[in-house]
Amino acid sequence: MDRFIYADNAATTRLHPDVLNDMMPYLTEQYGNASSLYGFGQESRIALDQAKATMAECLHCRSDEVFITSGGSEADNWAIKMVAKALAAKGKKHIISTEFEHHAVLHTLNSLKKDGFEITLLPVYENGIVRIEDVKNALREDTALVSVMFANNEIGTIQPIAEIGALCRENGVLFHTDAVQAVGHVPVDFAGMNIDLLSLSAHKFHGPKGVGALIVRKGVRFGNLIDGGAQEKGRRAGTENVAGIVGMASAMKRACNAMESSIPSIAAKRDRLITELTKITHSRLNGDAVTRLPGNVNISFEGIEGESLLLMLDMRGICASSGSACTSGSLDPSHVLLSIGLPHAVAHGSLRLSLSEETTDEDIDVILQEVPVVVDRLRAMSPLWETILKEEQSH
Ligand SMILES: Cc1ncc(COP(=O)(O)O)c(C=O)c1O
Repeated sequence: MDRFIYADNAATTRLHPDVLNDMMPYLTEQYGNASSLYGFGQESRIALDQAKATMAECLHCRSDEVFITSGGSEADNWAIKMVAKALAAKGKKHIISTEFEHHAVLHTLNSLKKDGFEITLLPVYENGIVRIEDVKNALREDTALVSVMFANNEIGTIQPIAEIGALCRENGVLFHTDAVQAVGHVPVDFAGMNIDLLSLSAHKFHGPKGVGALIVRKGVRFGNLIDGGAQEKGRRAGTENVAGIVGMASAMKRACNAMESSIPSIAAKRDRLITELTKITHSRLNGDAVTRLPGNVNISFEGIEGESLLLMLDMRGICASSGSACTSGSLDPSHVLLSIGLPHAVAHGSLRLSLSEETTDEDIDVILQEVPVVVDRLRAMSPLWETILKEEQSH
């Protein structure tokens, strides 16, 4: 496609050209294996160590707390399954999480149920934010882990991570956060927020796909993911993806350094979209208006289907996402939108626009021009919309 507006940065982001530049040597002439003892291999080892140090600085953790993974899903699986296994041996078989976690967490928890774990999923209410009292009330003697995402991938709401971290630390319970949507977008302070385990993924902040990390506080006991060589302290064997890891660190550094100016600039564009799009009749913003990611807009339009909205926007050169699980081949609306109490019909007509530092004011102008036209067209063809109007007239 020649020119399109990319408003789906929560799905993935463009690899930044400076990040690619930093990766290039390790994709070409600097191909040494970091485990080799000769100097050529050791240059890769030095690059890996430097990458971990850079990431540690951004995240406020130690570099020996950074464990490389293939992305967010692997980090979530590793954190939850391996900690669960280690603590089950001590009779701790209860895990607390929330209803609106990413499937990488929810499906992992489901698989643990089969091994006798009890899972408590906390509600997130209409604003899409978990309540600290609920976490407190759910804690039990046998609670092994609390896993609450830093920011939700669909509605962008940011959770009270520092408060949950403090509560868990006070009670001697491990705390994992899926920070895949937060790292590189909002400040993340691993040590200061009392986080024990944190998942992240490079492709969400203009880094390469297929690489991420699990940060594990020193002293936390957790099992190996892949047995084999000595990589990642013997916990995740396999020759390192040096270029990917260098790219992840480079992208994280760029994002962290730019945050002070990028947050207000992206949030201003987000707020313009929210203000204007919620002027459309029978629309609503999903998730808290204030405590949300700078780039996340999620709006439901009654009387239309999210999939049709996406297809029509696609024909107009706009890439966005909907709240229906059409990608998973099911017609169910997203569990996230249902968790904040949206009726099925409303959840079906939702649109997620996720912005980045690359989104321009002109992009916002085009989106604001096209979305109302498309919503009108779809409503004109929608029997559901007709019913909504008739019902209103009869009241
Ligand atoms: C909150 C959250 N967790 C986990 C993941 C999975 O990350 P990855 O695609 O790197 O496996 C995603 C990706 O969309 C996400 O948004």
